[in-house]
Amino acid sequence: MEMASQMHLKLQIHSSGCEIMVEIIDVSARAAAIEYAIRDVVVPAVELEKQGHEIIRMNVGDPLAFDGLPTPKHMISAYKDALDNQKNGYGPSYGIPELREAIAASETKKGWACDMDDVYVTHGVTEALQIIFASFLEPGDKVLAPGPHYPPYMAYPQMYGATTVEYRLDPTDGWRIDLEDIKSKMDESVRLLVLINPNNPTGNVASVEEIDGLIHIAEQWPKCTIIADEIYDGLDFTNKFVSVASRSNKAPVLALNGVSKVYFAPGWRIGYMAWHDPSGKLGLVRDGVERLLRSRLCASTPAQFGYLAGLTDDTDWLKGHRSRIKERLDFCINRISEIEGLECEAPGGAFYLFVRISSDKLSSDDKKFVLRLLEEKHVLVVHGSGFSPEYGHGHFRMVCLPSIEILDEAFNRISDFLGG
Ligand SMILES: Cc1ncc(COP(=O)(O)O)c(C=O)c1O
Repeated sequence: MEMASQMHLKLQIHSSGCEIMVEIIDVSARAAAIEYAIRDVVVPAVELEKQGHEIIRMNVGDPLAFDGLPTPKHMISAYKDALDNQKNGYGPSYGIPELREAIAASETKKGWACDMDDVYVTHGVTEALQIIFASFLEPGDKVLAPGPHYPPYMAYPQMYGATTVEYRLDPTDGWRIDLEDIKSKMDESVRLLVLINPNNPTGNVASVEEIDGLIHIAEQWPKCTIIADEIYDGLDFTNKFVSVASRSNKAPVLALNGVSKVYFAPGWRIGYMAWHDPSGKLGLVRDGVERLLRSRLCASTPAQFGYLAGLTDDTDWLKGHRSRIKERLDFCINRISEIEGLECEAPGGAFYLFVRISSDKLSSDDKKFVLRLLEEKHVLVVHGSGFSPEYGHGHFRMVCLPSIEILDEAFNRISDFLGG
């Protein structure tokens, strides 16, 4: 009887054309709880596109979707050469040695002694996160992440029975880290303390004092490891970026980075984690990580050669990409300052703006704001609460990568929407 009450029965049309009653198979609670706001809002946008509307998409942080930000040619040639030379087999599970060496050299340049054995190549930072969470977390554990943050930091830990607690970034002071808030939320169950620097979605670049303060807190908790997601490090416009690993001589740090943002090839799906373990306490968890890496075979072999070319060749090309991004960011900040009803802290890096909706009436439901803006003006941004239920509501995130001409049109529509 009890079994029957849990069954989900549904009338379906069978391929023979007859109606039949079927029992719908349940989804796991893990998968059903996953949300990824950045792509979830695409569903209604696609519906509008099907009806013939042209949508200005400012939701996904993919530089390749916009003019003037291509993957550098020498990286593409290296990828193609790898394909042509039949480097299409499975590679070593931790990454091809040439790339691990180049990553270690690049991390060492940032100020800490990174050996190639400290580097594990993954299918993007996203896969590194999945592997880290799977290896560190047990039910009841906590991940302390900035609020707001890039959504997988909230979505994945719950798959292991852990929870993500957010620490406050100060919305009135450039989204600085609130160290007192971190202190008040630390306890024995916090296994991972996350810093995203520069931050997505706020663009804040942490100062060396903020970083040292965060490391100092982590040091007081022997079970805590720092995740330093530095995937936007080459897009720091303040020149104050410092690597977290370079500042820590006690607390362990996992530095995350990859080809997606600063090397303009997110579709290649290559990233890495570099382990800085100055006190030598991560041996067991590292063994777990290596087991998981071996069990998922390897990252894409030819794509690793493409990234290798990016790391080892001249990076002068980056100047042009950086200045185009800065120009577009500045344009957006300027336009927002002219629109009544919107406010924004100037970001130090990355290519996002996290915009505050100042009218109480509109800000009370930021998702509704975003869906109405999409429906009425065909501009797609992402609701702030998708980046933090607690600290993101009343905001939206926009990607500032479209050309100035398209950005101008988007702001005209946003301004119209707000009645200005
Ligand atoms: C902070 C942050 N980390 C990681 C990623 C994803 O990195 P990857 O493409 O290497 O999986 C993103 C993508 O937007 C991001 O913003």
